[in-house]
Amino acid sequence: MAKTPMPEPGRRQTAFEWLDERLGLTTIWKTIFDRAVPETNWFYTFGSATLILCMLQGITGMLLTIYYVPSPDHAYDSINYIMNDVTLGWLIRGMHHWGATLLVVVIFLHMLKAFFVGAYKWPREITWLTGGVLLLLVLVMGFSGYLLPWNQKSYWATAVGTSVIGAVPVVGQTLMKIARGGTEIGAVTLARFYGLHIWWIPIMVLGVIGVHMYLIIRIGITHPPERDE
Ligand code: HEM
Repeated sequence: MAKTPMPEPGRRQTAFEWLDERLGLTTIWKTIFDRAVPETNWFYTFGSATLILCMLQGITGMLLTIYYVPSPDHAYDSINYIMNDVTLGWLIRGMHHWGATLLVVVIFLHMLKAFFVGAYKWPREITWLTGGVLLLLVLVMGFSGYLLPWNQKSYWATAVGTSVIGAVPVVGQTLMKIARGGTEIGAVTLARFYGLHIWWIPIMVLGVIGVHMYLIIRIGITHPPERDE
């Protein structure tokens, strides 16, 4: 580790200098934001757009948990309450609802761009693979979140979705029981999907995004291919 020079005697440090000397804030900033990147085009903004949408989903989701109640008796009413009675509740829920759809669209565009510029090849194989895991996790987020409003559409979509799991040969029925928390969709399913939606998957997403970003900083991104490449 580079040695930090002692401050000159008698010179007063600013609060930022004091913290920077101890935490290495300037180094962190330079490593993350002040990197050399190739000249790119607008298609290269899909990754950052995905990241920002993930953050927005996190913030709006956390706000929704203030009023949302994950029980069959109250889930539907709590969503109605958020939409009609909570100040700006309609906006927060709308952002979360449409943000989820937009996230799936943007993540696909980001993946397509990565594919077309050959970013899955050496040395970015693990960037690509972690991306693949993120895509799956985002889809599971969408599936688990869909049940939470506990309305007819969400109930039957989950019935169909979990039956599809049941159609897997040999282990299907067991997997379906695990997904539903029994043979039917009920309070246990809702609790299970809620737990997945607000804890298990987001924690995995955070971890995998961390690795994805680390690799982007460590290896860097591709440059858009030239015409003759
Ligand atoms: C939550 C999901 C994701 C986030 C937040 C995310 C974020 C990012 C960011 C910020 C970049 C750098 C800028 C750019 O090239 O656009 C990037 C690059 C990359 N991502 Fe993702 N990504 C996600 C999902 C995916 C998926 C689904 C794949 C593919 C299966 C993928 C594969 C890649 C690859 C290969 C690169 C390097 C691109 C290059 O070098 O040109 N990512 N990602």
